[in-house]
Amino acid sequence: MKKIIVSSIGSVALVSGLMASKPATQNPMPNKKHTFSVEGRDFKIDGKPMLIISGEMHYPRTPRAYWRDRLKKARAMGINTICTYVFWNRHEPSPGKWDFEGDNDLVAFVKMCQEEGMFVIVRPGPYVCTEWDCGGLPGWLLADQKMVLRDNNPAFMKPAMAYLEKISSMMAPLSVEKGGPVLMLQIENEYGSFGSDKAFLRAHEKAMRKGGWKGVLFTSDGPTDRMIKGGTLPEYTATMNFGGNAKKAFQKLEEYRPGQARMNGEFWVGWFDHWLKPHHTTSAAAKAKELDWMLKNGISVNIYMFHGGTNFAYYAGANGSDSHYDSDTTSYDYSAVLTENGAPSDKFEAFKSVIRKRVPSATFGPMPDPIPIITLPEIKLTQSTNLFQQLPAEFISSKQPLKMEQLGQSLGFILYETTLEGPVHGKLKVDRIQDRGQVYIDGKQVGIFDRRSKKLSLPIHLSAGKHKLQILVENMGRVNFGHGMRNERKGLHGKVTLAGKEITDWKNFSLPMADCKGIDFEKSGASLPVLKRGEFSVSEQGDAWLNMEKWGKGVVWINGHNLGRYWSRGCQQTLYVPGCWLNHGANARNEVVVLELELEKSPTVLNSAPKPIWEVRADDTQLTRKKGQNLDLQGVKPVHQAEFAAGDTWQTVKFDKIHQGRYLALEALSAQNGDAHAAITELEILDEHGKMIPRDQLAVIYADSEEVIAEAGSANNVIDNQPTTYWHTQWKDKSPKYPHAIVLDLGKERKISGFRYLPRPNSVNGRIKQYKIYLNAAKFKGL
Ligand code: GLA
Ligand code: CA
Repeated sequence: MKKIIVSSIGSVALVSGLMASKPATQNPMPNKKHTFSVEGRDFKIDGKPMLIISGEMHYPRTPRAYWRDRLKKARAMGINTICTYVFWNRHEPSPGKWDFEGDNDLVAFVKMCQEEGMFVIVRPGPYVCTEWDCGGLPGWLLADQKMVLRDNNPAFMKPAMAYLEKISSMMAPLSVEKGGPVLMLQIENEYGSFGSDKAFLRAHEKAMRKGGWKGVLFTSDGPTDRMIKGGTLPEYTATMNFGGNAKKAFQKLEEYRPGQARMNGEFWVGWFDHWLKPHHTTSAAAKAKELDWMLKNGISVNIYMFHGGTNFAYYAGANGSDSHYDSDTTSYDYSAVLTENGAPSDKFEAFKSVIRKRVPSATFGPMPDPIPIITLPEIKLTQSTNLFQQLPAEFISSKQPLKMEQLGQSLGFILYETTLEGPVHGKLKVDRIQDRGQVYIDGKQVGIFDRRSKKLSLPIHLSAGKHKLQILVENMGRVNFGHGMRNERKGLHGKVTLAGKEITDWKNFSLPMADCKGIDFEKSGASLPVLKRGEFSVSEQGDAWLNMEKWGKGVVWINGHNLGRYWSRGCQQTLYVPGCWLNHGANARNEVVVLELELEKSPTVLNSAPKPIWEVRADDTQLTRKKGQNLDLQGVKPVHQAEFAAGDTWQTVKFDKIHQGRYLALEALSAQNGDAHAAITELEILDEHGKMIPRDQLAVIYADSEEVIAEAGSANNVIDNQPTTYWHTQWKDKSPKYPHAIVLDLGKERKISGFRYLPRPNSVNGRIKQYKIYLNAAKFKGL
């Protein structure tokens, strides 16, 4: 038996000899009956210590035809176990309707791992996180307006535990004890990051036992006191999830589980990407060093991800809450060991040599031939139609817009339609949108509502008579982490108003758009949202990258397979086309359909790229400051200058006399904390009577710098009446220094007595100290 010496207050010295010096059984072939247990420091297979060197890969994220290729590559690196989540929302797409076919064939995947000489760890959730819509919980659960997800209440637990029991019953005959490859099942997922209700965890255990699983169970949590306390059950092995600093993580675990077998349940070798944010890459050398330390110390590892793959169709998840929202990209490349297209990254050789060095008993399978990347011919999109010509005959009528789940729909789009009576001039406003919507008046796109940037209103001008209003809302992925998940009902929430009056009587069209079947391209049309279609043939076999850089935002299908979303604002600019979904040969035809939502003049051809392109393009039109603008205040006399107080509360500033002008500049000279950044949450401009000028008569016409990539720091936030949104100067890619400036157009010449200022909330970063105010009848120089 291995020993540990626990010195004072839980810090731990590891006795060498836990390690590779006593060779662990690295690769017993999982093709006969085995016993598997956790005893003291060891995972034991047939009574002998086993070092688990696992690679995570998710069957729905790789086309079934490629599963074997990826698994062979795992064996070639020296992996002895494959770890996968199980995806409830894939297996039960509507209540009681089960799907275990095709890419959802969990049992076939598990058996294939065994055929390729590897054991399997299964993590059935039901909550699985993993940057997947609602962490794998089916959207239909949210049709119940009172549903509380991931909580020990009957409305959630009944379907969740029924699902879990079912998966357990499918895995029980595949356990190692029965001659299958499955070593152990995970209870829930990082529950300690979310809650601490042990009865909730116990219910999971019970359902798994009821389903027939008799073998080892374990939990996975982050290495902190709160997470370990909340997420573990005393008699089950606790694994630790982290991407670095293994020594510290296991010291923490040792405080709670002295002498327990150690496994990094998720060794994050990369990270996932959000739309509008930069692509993540990690260093192979740094991660190899961590792996080396763990293997050297006899610690089992699950490499997350060995192969990330793709969030095809609409399964990408999101991070967020009521106040912020970032959805995940289609690609789940993850800077993993294998790239999105299954090619070995630099981590492959780096990890392989670590395994070879630290685990002398490791064996390595043969590396399969690489899958080539092919160039597609330029694809001519010869047909097009307007999405609104393709609406289903049925819709649901309602007073207020219905949410997606109320329509019996989980993913995709909803079209809301109604008739307006003109003339009206005013703001069209929605209470809440989840997550992004294109607005059309009489079929013409007039603007966008967006949850992320908190754009919830638009100016509308209607002539006399009747007008058709349509709002096409896209579910951009449900939050999959944290309590924000619980309010992830999609579509429009609450009221829609125009010039202050509520709009009622809506038609709700459900447009799941999972496939592109039934589109009639005979009804041709070119206006947005547009569907374009083309055919092409390819002679060589191989994978391709579709280059979507010149497109706006939308979805692509090839031969009926939904490749997922594209969005020119990045970071993902290309879409992965698995070669196994293409028909090869001179006479074989392939069909491509593109749904373009936002770009008025989108291309008429599609091209491929030789490799994936990652780039964030915060579209210039998103920035308040236009090209060539350069505010010049030289020679202009400030009407007021002072210092703001520290703190986050409203401050009212009165000028010593009334000043007149149309353009108001606030020049910020320094920050409260001496940093380079400026931020403002709200500005209210006061007229000669000290009354606020209505916000909709103001416009922000200039801000020297805006952080629109790493956060939603657009300058318009200073007049949006939202205390949670603020203008913030750039800090991610660049950090321009003080002075900073923002300019408002007051709509006409006015008499001004002062203003009110709300600093940014939550953090001192960006709070302004010294400032000057300028007021001018004409635009300032440089604008
Ligand atoms: C957590 C979850 C995983 C995944 C990673 C981040 O640890 O358990 O499902 O979401 O974070 O990729
Ligand atoms: Ca604001």
